[in-house]
Formats: sequence, structure tokens, C-alpha cells
Amino acid sequence: MEDTRNVIDKYKGLPVEAIAKDLAQKALPLHIAIENYQHDYNIGTIVRSANAFNVAGVHIVGKRHWNRRGAMATEKYLQVYHHKNVQELALWSKENNLEVLGIDNIAGSVPLHKSKIPKQAMLVFGQEGPGLSAEMQAICTKIIAIEQFGSTRSINLGVAAGIIMYEYLSKQILE
Ligand SMILES: C[S@@+](CC[C@H](N)C(=O)[O-])C[C@H]1O[C@@H](n2cnc3c(N)ncnc32)[C@H](O)[C@@H]1O
Repeated sequence: MEDTRNVIDKYKGLPVEAIAKDLAQKALPLHIAIENYQHDYNIGTIVRSANAFNVAGVHIVGKRHWNRRGAMATEKYLQVYHHKNVQELALWSKENNLEVLGIDNIAGSVPLHKSKIPKQAMLVFGQEGPGLSAEMQAICTKIIAIEQFGSTRSINLGVAAGIIMYEYLSKQILE
């Protein structure tokens, strides 16, 4: 029977568990966290990009339920963690030897082209509207901003996450 799933050819015909296991063995030591107090519709897009770049895990902070539209079922192939609050995420990151960095263009943030993202990193994104919460900012060693040149205050959250994941990949893995 034809495998109609949206997976690359080498995974066609394999069970989900076998694909997830293979990906986990080669995953980048990069984790992505998203604050989820308002069911941001971008989370699905971020999960899909996280799978495409093979990051080790996506962390949902706040509400357990997240909007899966945009994920295109990619959540089955990578670890998605839930943390009730910011302190739980901070503890998990410490226990797993990950530096927590915020991604937002707020006062005190450093431009991306002047920042080196550490290899063992937990990169935290805020929500459309409020951005990174003050509590989340407080656990970050620094906040990184993607430079902008137009009139809009910010770019879309899913787009910002894609840019940052590729920047990590190009500087830490491909260079
Ligand atoms: C649409 S923004 C909202 C907050 C934004 N600070 C503002 O004033 O409009 C939602 C999230 O997208 C990400 N984001 C959007 N534009 C960004 C940029 N230029 N640099 C870094 N992160 C950005 C951040 O994670 C942010 O918390």
C-alpha cells in the first residue's frame, strides 16, 4: 500500500516509532520553548520546523493544550514536553545542561548578527501580542533580537523561530 505520509523517501513504509527513534539518535542538542497562555496558532508551525531541522525537543510552557494546526502531524516524530510554568522549564534546562536564551526584540536585547547561540541551548519564544513574559525574561542569560528594517514592530512568531533555528544550524553545524 502506498505511504501517503509527508515524510522523506528513506522513511516511507516505516512505523512512526522507528522514524522517531532514528531522528532522536541524530538530533541537534537544541531545544525550543514557547510560552502558551493563549493557544498561539503558530506553535504548530514551530513544531514542523523543529522536526525539519531535527531539534531535540519542543517545550510548551503554560497551557497543556496547543494548537496543532500547522504541525502537519510532525509532533509524532519528536519529543514535545509540557511545563506548567517558567520555573519548571528553568529546572528542566538546568538538569539537562542547557543555557536558556530568550528570542525577542525588546529593550536590552542583543542583535542576532552579534550573538553566538551556544550549542547546548534552550531558545525561548514569546507569544504573538504580549511577547516574552517578564518571568521568562528573568531566567534567560540574554535576549536575542532579529534585526528589522521596516515599520512593523515585530515579525510573525513562526517566522522568527524558523530564522533562529536556521541561524543555529548554519553557525553551529554547517560552518
Ligand atoms: C509578534 S512578537 C510580539 C512581541 C514583540 N516584542 C512586539 O513588541 O510586538 C511574538 C514573538 O515572536 C518573536 N519575535 C517576533 N519578532 C522578533 C524579532 N524581530 N526578534 C526576535 N524575536 C521576534 C518573539 O519570540 C516574540 O516574543
